[in-house]
Amino acid sequence: MTVGYRTTFQHRCLLPPNGLRHHRAGHCDLERQFRRKFLAHKRHSYAQAVAQASVVTPYTEQGNESAQSVSAQNSQPRITGETVVITGGSQGVGRATALLFAQNGYNVVIAARNPDKLRATEAELLTGATRGSVCSAISTDITDESAVASLVEVVTSKYENVSILINCAGVCLNGTLESTPVADFVDQMNVNFLGAVIMTKGFQPSLVAAAKKGLNPVLVNVNSFGGRIPLRSMPAYTASKYALAGFTDAIRPDFADQGIHVAQVHPGVVKSNFMERAAFRGPKGEQQRETMERMLEQPPPGLVQTPQEVAAQIYSAVQNRKDEVFVGPAYNTINALYRSLGVNPFSVAT
Ligand SMILES: NC(=O)c1ccc[n+]([C@@H]2O[C@H](COP(=O)([O-])OP(=O)(O)OC[C@H]3O[C@@H](n4cnc5c(N)ncnc54)[C@H](OP(=O)(O)O)[C@@H]3O)[C@@H](O)[C@H]2O)c1
Repeated sequence: MTVGYRTTFQHRCLLPPNGLRHHRAGHCDLERQFRRKFLAHKRHSYAQAVAQASVVTPYTEQGNESAQSVSAQNSQPRITGETVVITGGSQGVGRATALLFAQNGYNVVIAARNPDKLRATEAELLTGATRGSVCSAISTDITDESAVASLVEVVTSKYENVSILINCAGVCLNGTLESTPVADFVDQMNVNFLGAVIMTKGFQPSLVAAAKKGLNPVLVNVNSFGGRIPLRSMPAYTASKYALAGFTDAIRPDFADQGIHVAQVHPGVVKSNFMERAAFRGPKGEQQRETMERMLEQPPPGLVQTPQEVAAQIYSAVQNRKDEVFVGPAYNTINALYRSLGVNPFSVAT
């Protein structure tokens, strides 16, 4: 079987013999078609799926590379340097974080569902990357165990050192208990909590391997101020983020024993495009949506952050091996007040 492909082979050919992160700058390839291909061939083993993924890129149609066999491609050495995998990397906090890591010389893999948004962010990574980062955008639903298993296969077959995992994908849901169907609770738990669990289980062996090589691997769970301070009329979101906080705290000592640092970053309200996916339930839903939109447009001082501010804190948490970070002085103060006195401004009716 012969196939055409473009960037992957180029990357690997350009690698210096023992080079870490010094191959040609800004060269990104795209594997977003993998997921579709994988679903269409679910009976195949993961190994077969990986072989398919590694050859299915939009660049094949451009026809300016010679055909190569799958086995020849798979025998190429893996990309060296440190690689960071970021869920929700197509937009908002995940996108800003991906750009920051790429600018600082890391290889970056972004995972989210929408291929168009992934493609757009990958193009930005292509221009923003410095010092030879290699980037991949891989369409993945983090709530789907088989999709994450195939993501792990694709990433680890291509990148030698996955040393940082950032679980950033998340969705907001507003609504009182009586307004929120149980199905919404399930969805919130699936994305905001179990998605991180599935990803962490999937990449734990890679992080352990990185630790054995002395690479100081780090897991970052991007949580929320609502993961430590309960948010009125948001029981499903709060529960999912509290679950993520409990999970993060519980695995920290086991991961430390394996040489993996675990960090948790809690953004405040972020002016991203999260309202695209946010759901507002119940008779007050529309009013709550308008209140949030107003807050994002005319932010009260100190309460609304940019994705870049949050990304800087995530980057700092990795570099400085921080355990837990609240983004911004206002949220640090509110957290301290809640912890010490039980005062919670987010329990007030709006
Ligand atoms: N924005 C805020 O005010 C705020 C406040 C506190 C905490 N946070 C947390 O910060 C994180 C980032 O938020 P953000 O504001 O950047 O959100 P955002 O702009 O809405 O981005 C969410 C990202 O998650 C991805 N995603 C959603 N469901 C997914 C799934 N099932 N599988 C894979 N990817 C999925 C989305 O892509 P696809 O839809 O294409 O998959 C997108 O890339 C989230 O965990 C959020 O809870 C945000």
